Amino acid sequence: ADKYVVFGNPIAQSKSPFIHTLFARQTAQKMTYEAQLVPLDGFEAAASQFFAAGGRGCNITVPFKEQAFTFATQLTERARLAGAVNTLKKLDDGGILGDNTDGEGLVQDLLRNQVELKGKHILLVGAGGAARGVILPLLAQKPASLTVTNRTLSKAEALAALFASHGKVSAIALDALSADQHFDLIINSTSASLSQSLPGIPASLIHPDLVCYDMVYGQEETTFNQWAAELGALKVIDGLGMLVGQAAESFLLWRGIRPGTEQVLRELRRALQ
Ligand code: ATR
Repeated sequence: ADKYVVFGNPIAQSKSPFIHTLFARQTAQKMTYEAQLVPLDGFEAAASQFFAAGGRGCNITVPFKEQAFTFATQLTERARLAGAVNTLKKLDDGGILGDNTDGEGLVQDLLRNQVELKGKHILLVGAGGAARGVILPLLAQKPASLTVTNRTLSKAEALAALFASHGKVSAIALDALSADQHFDLIINSTSASLSQSLPGIPASLIHPDLVCYDMVYGQEETTFNQWAAELGALKVIDGLGMLVGQAAESFLLWRGIRPGTEQVLRELRRALQ
């Protein structure tokens, strides 16, 4: 059986082994997928050892995505622009391809939820690694505009500049946002919900046709999604589907088959309750 692994620290909480084991069963692939805790100073050694022992591919989670970017001998364009790698694949020539499937995982989950992106006005809240990882795949869907806002404006401006040649992307200060701007979709990429706080966009942006997406998830509705739903947003979606979506894109890169995500999502949702 072909060997796959997810590297992280911590790693015990990772749902990736569960997800990929279900994908493998569903698509009848002979493979194993395990979680491996890596010491904070031990990523390169662990990855080298894994591939030297015949490993075919791995996922990389916090805090090693930038180190995985450096470890790769080739990068996809989306990984290069994300500045981070969540998926490595052993190539036939012995090289190691680095990819980033987070953004496509988000796009696929939005499309699965029947959220249209083409021609729409999107607000991306946050300008950290999570935001950077999703901008190119979002722009590839040809939105009318992608506006990045962040508590620290300079980071939003830097991201808008980085992706300027790839689509209609701009930056705006949080306190410059008002009901004058119309967004069809607001994506919260900040970690604010993890500390039960809100990312700081004005309530006036929430309207009855708005879809909100929070990249985090939990047993309860996220803080941001609760807030938006109470203000009357049409639909709020949490990040569990993005997690499964990025896994499906990694699986596709490794195995050449796109697994179905619905069954895995149902089981994960049930396990959260
Ligand atoms: P990640 O890789 O998950 O994106 P990060 O690079 O640390 O993590 O970025 C965290 C993002 O969440 C940043 O945009 C951060 O805003 P700043 O750049 O101003 O720090 C944002 N963030 C975190 N907590 C927040 C809060 N309570 N309110 C608003 N923004 C918050």
